[in-house]
Amino acid sequence: MSDERSVTSNAPIAKKRSDYQVPDFFIEQVDMTFWLEPSETRVLTKSKVRRNGDHQRPLVLDGDDLELLKVSINGIGINTYQCSEKQLSIAYDANEFELEIETQINPASNTSLEGLYLSNNTFSTQCEAEGFRKITYFLDRPDVLATYQVTVHADKQKYPYLLSNGNCIAKGEGDNGTHWVTWQDPFKKPCYLFALVAGDFDLVEDKFVTQSGRTIDLQFFVDKGNASRAGHAVESLKKAMRWDEETFGLEYDLDIYMVVAVDFFNMGAMENKGLNIFNSKCVLADPESATDEDYFNIESIIGHEYFHNWTGNRVTCRDWFQLSLKEGLTVFRDQQFSSDMSSPVTTRISQVKLIKERQFAEDSGPMSHPIRPDEVIEMNNFYTVTVYDKGAEVIRMMHTMLGKDGFRRGMDLYFERHDGQAVTCDDFVNAMQDANNVDMSLFRRWYGQSGTPEVSVKEIYDAEQQIYRIELSQHTPKTADQAHKQVLHIPVDMMLLNARGEAEALDQDGNTSTVLDLCESKQSFEFHGIKEKPVLDIFRSFSAPVKVHFEQSTQDMAAIMLHARDDFSRWEASQSLFTNAILDGVKHQGVIADNKIAFILDCLQQLLQNKPDDFALLGEMLSVPSYDSLAQKMAVVDVEGILASRQLMQDSIADALVDELHAAYSLCRNDGYAYQQEQIANRRLSNVCLTYLAKGQQGESLLLQQFERSDNMTDTLGVLKAARRYNVPVFEKLMSQFESKWHDDVLVLDKWFSLHAGAETDDILAKLDLLTAHAHYSNSNPNRIRAVVGTFAFFNTSGFHNMNGSGYRYVADAIIQLNRINPQVASRLITPLSEWQRYGEDRQDLMKGELLRIADQPHLSPDLYEKVSKALHF
Ligand code: TRP
Ligand code: ZN
Repeated sequence: MSDERSVTSNAPIAKKRSDYQVPDFFIEQVDMTFWLEPSETRVLTKSKVRRNGDHQRPLVLDGDDLELLKVSINGIGINTYQCSEKQLSIAYDANEFELEIETQINPASNTSLEGLYLSNNTFSTQCEAEGFRKITYFLDRPDVLATYQVTVHADKQKYPYLLSNGNCIAKGEGDNGTHWVTWQDPFKKPCYLFALVAGDFDLVEDKFVTQSGRTIDLQFFVDKGNASRAGHAVESLKKAMRWDEETFGLEYDLDIYMVVAVDFFNMGAMENKGLNIFNSKCVLADPESATDEDYFNIESIIGHEYFHNWTGNRVTCRDWFQLSLKEGLTVFRDQQFSSDMSSPVTTRISQVKLIKERQFAEDSGPMSHPIRPDEVIEMNNFYTVTVYDKGAEVIRMMHTMLGKDGFRRGMDLYFERHDGQAVTCDDFVNAMQDANNVDMSLFRRWYGQSGTPEVSVKEIYDAEQQIYRIELSQHTPKTADQAHKQVLHIPVDMMLLNARGEAEALDQDGNTSTVLDLCESKQSFEFHGIKEKPVLDIFRSFSAPVKVHFEQSTQDMAAIMLHARDDFSRWEASQSLFTNAILDGVKHQGVIADNKIAFILDCLQQLLQNKPDDFALLGEMLSVPSYDSLAQKMAVVDVEGILASRQLMQDSIADALVDELHAAYSLCRNDGYAYQQEQIANRRLSNVCLTYLAKGQQGESLLLQQFERSDNMTDTLGVLKAARRYNVPVFEKLMSQFESKWHDDVLVLDKWFSLHAGAETDDILAKLDLLTAHAHYSNSNPNRIRAVVGTFAFFNTSGFHNMNGSGYRYVADAIIQLNRINPQVASRLITPLSEWQRYGEDRQDLMKGELLRIADQPHLSPDLYEKVSKALHF
């Protein structure tokens, strides 16, 4: 009996999607007052409560870590309530009443960064998914929509800015050096969109005039001294507002839009109504301190949170199982925005890499779930690449099948039907279906089925009849969460090329591309009048999130890579060629056959002689696939084999193409940094070339030259990465110069932390200890943790997978420490350990040992409990 594990007896219980019930009560109007003090904040919440339907059940409110001071109903204090650890239950007969609840909370000790917390002398909130219950007792579920009025009292000197959602309607002075402000949000919203911020900032202001002529005040609140780094985010917001008007006819609704940048934040940003809260690294940028990638991410995340105002806020989720309703759709919208603002092909390449490297891994691991999950223990665990990015791919497939105009018709109908409501993924598909008069019943399965479908492609060419046939078959392997899989509706965008890369007409109308509907387990498609055996370009632009099995000849791949008109196809072909050769090397003790290497070098030479206009594309095509995407191709991952074979491929390119790479490198000159496509492309290509050139004789002098000359973070980091890649002796020297220059700038220092943590050297663990002892390291700041522990666990392949188990142990230790400090961050770090099934037995034992050690911790958070138990029962 005494041996009974507390983990099992207190095991958190999963909630099921199928158990959804409408709320017993609605709360339609909320009036909150906050008296902010670091460790004793008082919160008074007055709610208008209305019984939903004819029943006598009590009102059961959610709460977490709250001290309850007072409850009254219609102005009279009561004590006939029951208060347990996570709930407050109030039995009261009336169908409508005013409920007043006073709670006390401790923001200073809140290291979870969920609810109301104090960091760097700033009070801020994070309520999605279920953080509002850490502020007051409430119906903390997204289908309870209310208007909010919020009054904030705080010390005037320490917290000159007091912010909440909506419009400021009153302000004044209080006793003892305090002041107060009242905000009113006229739009009904679920409590997860509530926000409050109090602090001292630099304020950067701008204006936007909407398509209907209304002027919106834009306000960005950043840390003192950082105003000069807010410009790019402000411009990005204005672009996003214009883009949504032009693309979807959607205009902003309030008269003010605020963005606050904070240093302590669990994710990228949060779309609170009228008051977005951002991780400072997703707002602040200048050429000296931010890379092109940072600029890109800021634009896309500013866009993402802005687009949520319609897809998420005006139309929200009925329950958290429907998270992809807002996230998949909003990611798709931010992807289209980024594509329109920058380079469509590189934008698509980075999305596809994410799916292949991370989402496919999630789908084949213990946390596998459909984009609309069926069972959840801790909702924070479901903000995943599956819900977000596969969710966006599912939306993209609808866009592909319905076309731009059809998709727009569906969106219009969706808003016409559901503005102001909390709805489901089915409601979204219904709108798409009804607006276009199509039957999407088969397509819907993408929402409920997890796992990565595998499509096999066979081609048959009949020269005599001039008929070309492709036979497609689909199969989705079972996953941890679902044993039986159904056939899906898979859109297959394809083209036929001749040997010169020209597209063949596929029908009488002369169309050269088409989208095939693969709706059965086996299906074939015929094309007539094809005069020579064509080269098949299939799943163009990654038209469905599937794995493709197609034994295409290297000649055909090379033809696509060198001659196809479509840029994305060219990139994919280059990656397939590399992948084939590298995997061949893995099979043969790290040695790639000479003729395979020669073939690739010859292709690359042609590519460098006959450069595509887009240098960013060229840079991507010269880059070999990542460890993660190669690992996805193996049933049992051969860590050492992939590392060796991949390195051999890179070394061969570096040795054989020095002159060509050097010529390309020298072509890419920019004067004066601008975040502008041609410049970005030049920097991309030159830094890819530099990484190869670092290996050669001139390596060190090229690195030093670029380091000296660089006026921007992209080129500086390019040098450091290239030096690290070939362990060039100057690496350490340049790193310490970099550290002294940026010693007091934590956002830049994170890049330095991450460069060190990703170095594949034998003494990496000693290095990590030095990093975490650095004056600016902090295990309560998620950005620092991700830069050091996150980079090591996800990207330092040889260090993490060290056969002596030290890498696994290091990460498990960090997770155990973080379990109490910040469960959300701890839980995200466990992914690489939970993928033990993909490795050989020795590694499996070591990884499972660490998972068991985590499982044995007292007070394991529900976040970690859910992942560890799934990982161990895989
Ligand atoms: N809704 C946010 C977004 O995608 C995500 C988010 C921000 C979040 N902070 C969070 C989710 C904390 C869970 C917990 O834009
Ligand atoms: Zn989002």
